[in-house]
Order: sequence, then C-alpha cells, then structure tokens
Amino acid sequence: MGVESVVNTAEMRRRAIRRLPKLLGDWLEGGAEDELGIVRSLEQFHRYCLLPHYLVDVSTIDTAVRLFDRTYDIPLGIAPTGYPGLFWPGADMALARAAVDQNVPYIMSGHATATVENAAKAAPEHCWFQLYPAKDPDITRDIVARAADAGLETLVVTVDVPTEPKRERDLRNKFEMPMRMRPSVILDGLLHPFWTARYLGAGGLPTMANWAPYAREGADATAVALFAEAQGCPTVSWADLEEIRTNWPGKLVLKGVLSGDDARQAADKGVDGLIVSNHGGRESDRLPAPLDVLPHVLEAAPDLSVMVDGGIRRGADIVTALCLGARFVFVGRPIVYGLTVNGCEGVKRALAILQDEMVTTMRQIGRTSVSDLDRSVVYDTHAVSHDGSVRASNRSQGTWE
Ligand SMILES: Cc1cc2nc3c(=O)[nH]c(=O)nc-3n(C[C@H](O)[C@H](O)[C@H](O)COP(=O)(O)O)c2cc1C
Repeated sequence: MGVESVVNTAEMRRRAIRRLPKLLGDWLEGGAEDELGIVRSLEQFHRYCLLPHYLVDVSTIDTAVRLFDRTYDIPLGIAPTGYPGLFWPGADMALARAAVDQNVPYIMSGHATATVENAAKAAPEHCWFQLYPAKDPDITRDIVARAADAGLETLVVTVDVPTEPKRERDLRNKFEMPMRMRPSVILDGLLHPFWTARYLGAGGLPTMANWAPYAREGADATAVALFAEAQGCPTVSWADLEEIRTNWPGKLVLKGVLSGDDARQAADKGVDGLIVSNHGGRESDRLPAPLDVLPHVLEAAPDLSVMVDGGIRRGADIVTALCLGARFVFVGRPIVYGLTVNGCEGVKRALAILQDEMVTTMRQIGRTSVSDLDRSVVYDTHAVSHDGSVRASNRSQGTWE
C-alpha cells in the first residue's frame, strides 16, 4: 500500500522498522543507557491537555509562521539526522526536496551523506546547516565558510555531544565502523531484502560527503566516517563559539541547550536562536525533557528565537509546545520513518500528517492562527492537586475564573 494510506506517525514507524535490518532500526530508535531520555521526551506531552474554546469560526486555520526573515507554512522543520543515506539512497536530496515542497526548513546534518553545496542547490531557501565543531579548527573554519559560500542563511551548532554516548543496543548489535560482515549481519540483510537491494544497488555504505575533502586522499566511505568520528571534539568551548559567530555572517542557532545559564551565555555571545533539545535521548538518559526546562530558557533569553525538539509525534504536540512558548519545533525520527518507507514522498507524507493534525487540533481549541497559541490554552495536569483543586499555574492564566 502506498505511503498516502499511512494515517499517523506511529504507523509510519511500524512500516519503517519492518523494512530495516535490526541493527539499523535499533540505531534509529535507540537512546543512551536505560533510554529514559526517550521515555521522558515522549511522556512530556502527556502532562498537558488543551482547553477548547468553542463557538469560534474555525473555517480558516493559518499555520504559517515567520522565523529568521522567512515565512514557513508550518512551525515545524526537519531536525538534523546523521547518515540518512543508510535509510534511503540519495536521502539528503530527498529531505531537501520535501522541505521545499512543504515549505519547511531542513537542517542538513553535519554527518550528512551529501555535500552542503548540493543541498544548498536543491533547497537554497530552506536548507540550514548543522555543524559538529571539529578537533582541527581549520576544518571547522572551512566547513563554516563552505556553508556561507553556498548561500545558506542559518547555521546550527550542536553542543550536546561532548563525548561518545553509551548506546547499549548498538553495543550489543556491534553497530560500529568498520562494519564487519558477520553471519548475523548477513542474515539480518537477507531478512530485509527491500532495504538490502536498495542499499547494495546504491553502492553500499554512503560517504559523509562534507568530511571527504579533509580525510586522506582516496579514503573510502568507511575511512571518511572513521575520520569524522575521530574529529569529535571534547574541548569545544564558548571561545570556539565566539570564533564561529565572528566567521558566520548569517543566523546562528545553538542546538541542545537545556539550561537558563547556557541560554543567557548564548544570548551574550550574539546567538540568534536556540533549539531546546535532549538530542532525542541519544546522548544521555539523565537530561531533562525539553518542555520541562523551556520556561527557564525562555526567561533567560527572552530575545532569542527559542525552538524545541524531541518526542513530537502528533500535531497536538506541536500545538502544545507552541502554547508553552516555543516559536518553532523540529522533528527527528518521524521524518526518518517517512524517508525509509518511501524517500521524498514518505517525508512529505510525514510532514503532511503532522500539519493536518495540527490544523484539527487548532480547530478543536478555537485558535485560528499560530499567534493565538498561548499558555491560556494549556491545562497542566501536574498542577491539579489530589483533592481536585487547581493550582496557581492553571488558575493564573485566567482559564478557570
Ligand atoms: C538517527 C538519528 C541521527 C541523528 N543525528 C543527528 C545529527 O547528526 N546532528 C544533530 O544535531 N542531531 C542529530 N540527531 C538528533 C535530532 O536532530 C533530534 O534532536 C532528535 O531526533 C529529536 O527527537 P525525535 O527523534 O524524538 O524527534 C539524530 C537523531 C537520530 C534519531
């Protein structure tokens, strides 16, 4: 059945996971250690209900939003996901095309499998670039210059990977570079012929194209991946951020900020936006859920564009995040599910599902534009006492009087 028949992101997930070899499905789904970070990201939305306001004309709903001098059709973008070519041949271009088609931003991962130059050509107005600062500062400088020369306007620096995470599914599956062709890997491939045929047809392991120029000459895809991995940098500091700010002429976003202190520092250093994120629970399982710390970040950096990612699986999740003060949200895994199921068409379908659900939710709560989404719509179930009385955080919004 075609991807158009998929009704929600959970179904897209089931279809994607069925197609993928176990070790790749586990890499996509997995998180650090006990995976509490993933649970927390998904459960953060269960805490909130949305209060309806009826007898409002909701025949027209406007989900458009302005961000960094551009107007997008929905306050939803494609989060950066590394190695997308493992899920679909030509994945990066599929993501770029889907972003243009749906008029949403696409953040190309620093570990993408195409070049920033090609992504910029495919999506000149929709592509942002995500940077993992390298151990070798000349490489960082060069990548930043390449993104600027390609005409991109927004650079996202991911700050929440100071070390290699402990992802236990990957350790058990021996998902590592170089990938060894053990009998279990071969059997896994044979059991997933659709994925295997496409993977082999596209020439096997895709190359982290942005890193290829810095690896040794003639390096194959595995050698480039090992090189990029070795360039992971535990010493990145605010001083490096200052240099990036000096070299980058466009909008600068920090991804992975979870504290008011870091948000304040970022504002002082001239950053334009923050993505409050726990990296989808992939780096540590003891980081808070983004929505739980969002109020602190908003208070510390009131002038920045504060965005959120993690655990968004429904249009109502987007509405909730916006009501709580986020300006924009990004989605990681659900986009990769769509990509795995049917490339660009699958990504477009995942985005359309979320947009349709968002519109339905806005109709139900009687809010016709994104600018009408505010705290007064949110009912915080944690702010209800056991005796049923409503605590201040709900009352103070004027919701109950
Ligand atoms: C397979 C995978 C690869 C990822 N690669 C990157 C990456 O290269 N850079 C980055 O900043 N974040 C990366 N992320 C994190 C996402 O950008 C995003 O923060 C996270 O997926 C949001 O949670 P969600 O998957 O629940 O939507 C990755 C996430 C996944 C699932």
